[in-house]
Amino acid sequence: MTCMHLRTALFTAALACAAPAASAQIHYNPQTHVFRIDSAGTTYAFGVNDMQELQQLYWGKALAASDNFPAARSNDGNASFDPATSTTPQEYAGWGAGLYVEPALKITFPDGNRDLVLHYVSHTIDGNTLTIRLKDIEREVFVSLRYTTDPQTGILGRSAVIENRTSDPLLIEQAESATWTLPRGTDYTLDYLTGRWAGEDQLQQEAIRPGQRVLESRRGSTGHQNSPWFAVERDHATDQDTGDVWFGTLAWSGSWRITVEQDQLRAIRITGGYNPFDFGYRLAPGQSLDTPVFYGGYTHDGIGGASRLLHRFEIASILPQKPTPKARPVLYNSWEATEFNVDEAGQEALAEKAASIGVERFVMDDGWFGQRKDDHAGLGDWYVNPQKFPHGLKPLIDKVHSLGMDFGLWVEPEMVNPDSDLYRKHPDWVLNFTGRPRTEGRNQLVLNLARQDVRDYVYGFLDKLVTENDIAFLKWDYNRNWSEPGWPAVSPEEQKQVYVQYIDNLYSILRELRAKHPGLEIESCSGGGGRVDLGILRYTDEVWTSDNTDPFDRLSIQDGFTYAFTPGVMMAWVTDSPAWRHPGITSVEYRFLSSMQGGLGVGANLNHWTPEDFATAKRLIAEYKQIRETVQHGSLYRLVSPRGSEDSVTESVSLDRSQAAVFAFLHTSQFGYPYPRIYLRGLDPKAEYRVHWISSEPEKPGPHSELTPMPDHASGAWFMSHGVDVNLRGDFQAAAFRLDRVAADE
Ligand code: GLA
Repeated sequence: MTCMHLRTALFTAALACAAPAASAQIHYNPQTHVFRIDSAGTTYAFGVNDMQELQQLYWGKALAASDNFPAARSNDGNASFDPATSTTPQEYAGWGAGLYVEPALKITFPDGNRDLVLHYVSHTIDGNTLTIRLKDIEREVFVSLRYTTDPQTGILGRSAVIENRTSDPLLIEQAESATWTLPRGTDYTLDYLTGRWAGEDQLQQEAIRPGQRVLESRRGSTGHQNSPWFAVERDHATDQDTGDVWFGTLAWSGSWRITVEQDQLRAIRITGGYNPFDFGYRLAPGQSLDTPVFYGGYTHDGIGGASRLLHRFEIASILPQKPTPKARPVLYNSWEATEFNVDEAGQEALAEKAASIGVERFVMDDGWFGQRKDDHAGLGDWYVNPQKFPHGLKPLIDKVHSLGMDFGLWVEPEMVNPDSDLYRKHPDWVLNFTGRPRTEGRNQLVLNLARQDVRDYVYGFLDKLVTENDIAFLKWDYNRNWSEPGWPAVSPEEQKQVYVQYIDNLYSILRELRAKHPGLEIESCSGGGGRVDLGILRYTDEVWTSDNTDPFDRLSIQDGFTYAFTPGVMMAWVTDSPAWRHPGITSVEYRFLSSMQGGLGVGANLNHWTPEDFATAKRLIAEYKQIRETVQHGSLYRLVSPRGSEDSVTESVSLDRSQAAVFAFLHTSQFGYPYPRIYLRGLDPKAEYRVHWISSEPEKPGPHSELTPMPDHASGAWFMSHGVDVNLRGDFQAAAFRLDRVAADE
């Protein structure tokens, strides 16, 4: 058994023993017309009310099997201004009959009617999936609501299929995946992630007040500005690991929206799906439209518990190599070293240096194709540049293989430079409105992937590239958002389908490529973390977290990222210092420790490194390989947040609790205070753990120091209750250690 296989087997075994007994039950009570989904410590219930609407009843901690929900009864509002339609917490409300809260579905019919009232028709239960069929009270418009429950985490996947069985086309103006409801209350806090290019995933927390908070992207892709994720905490527990938390995330890589509202009666409704802005999906008779899946979960274990559930769900149920994805190899990427100036000799020299420190995957970034000298030309022309690589890519790939690494390549398949053969031949292939200017971003335009010919071209060149070259990995980039999203080749009524068709085609290319080339791994990159969501993660093994590789800035970007996504997909490179705004301040070791909390990569210019830098890198990469399974697939505890504090600490614990990895950072010692004591989590209190320093060991505290020396070994209870001191002082300091459970017979 190879080392990698052994690791995978151990991980599978660990999963099996750490996971709670997986069970899920979907039950329908024909007397009360109540549906109840019980799964992994949660209960979700809704019923068909006296109006024949689907009405939410409960979402939270598991209730007793003997607890019976009374039949759902519509709320009659409290004034003529708030009719029952608006005050009844509907699972999926059509816009009609006086609905003032966010609708799930809004349709305009060709005769001018815009009233839609959805009533229960029937349901089916098939294993872990419940499908409810709704229909308009008068017209042949059907909606099938799907609820799929995950027995390991209790996370529900909700989506809708809208079907036109009338004899005329209709226009869908708003199509959401689901509405989640929480009971009336004024003590809720909303957590969400905001950002921008090079500043992704900043956690925001605010009280939920009457009105709406809209999280969205109108950009044609997921975007940097908001992550399609939310969490709602009750009583905003200061402890990361206790308290009620409801959370959710949309699996969609196009324009999306999540609306969080406190309604007239102070109930909380969270509605998400396609962004209704500029939406207009023409549905011909007999056609249907599927919405993305909106996942939602509940935990009593605080916001930390919520992210651990989500991580486990992503690893076991979303990622392409689910349920046991391979650990991310340590990669080297040439971008920051050579930018567009790639050639055979230069890349081979970097590859030799990368191999010498233990890198496992060598990735050549932008600049290898077409007439690509800078970002003004070449995108779209996916032939190997004959001046830079006169013998094609094979000699470089062979060299990389001979050094014991696999080979990866950068592509940006959805884009074209106007200065390219492709654009000169097919100017009509880009998103555009006839006769209007075409706004460029980074000198490039967006190919309209919704077009079948464009889709076939993109799939065709990628398939050829991967078939003709031994490529293990594609870094799939996407360096701008949409403008002028027109599709002149189809009728004006159909043009807005681009918002759905583009993304469906993107997914189908990724799906087919992976099916034809099963060993191929893919990274989703969009100027850093501009396209990270559970839709793209079904087809990509990792994501580029941010173009900002400053190791200090990364601490808060990575902290925010892990609220929504597993560290197992979070790529983090060590690059050169100076980077951004900390010229020369951070040591190679500090930079490594920052990056070792996710999938480790190196993006520095190795041609400039000293022998000491190489020695440090080699040592830390070897250390990383000992903990990466724990870091990437274990349980993450955010012990101290980097947001607004001088220090920050993360801890990852393997699922079988045999190993923990702890990373501690200090921005600046103020007033000479000693570093706060660190209290670990998630260990086996009775087991004995041995300490191993991953970083160089910080100076031992003196005999009269206020700090307690780090023990060589101690019980899990000691590390969690007594806590440990790490002697960090000064500016931009970091330390990391590992705990290994001592076997009973040792
Ligand atoms: C984007 C990516 C970078 C790099 C460049 C190449 O900015 O985020 O990592 O690949 O494109 O042009």
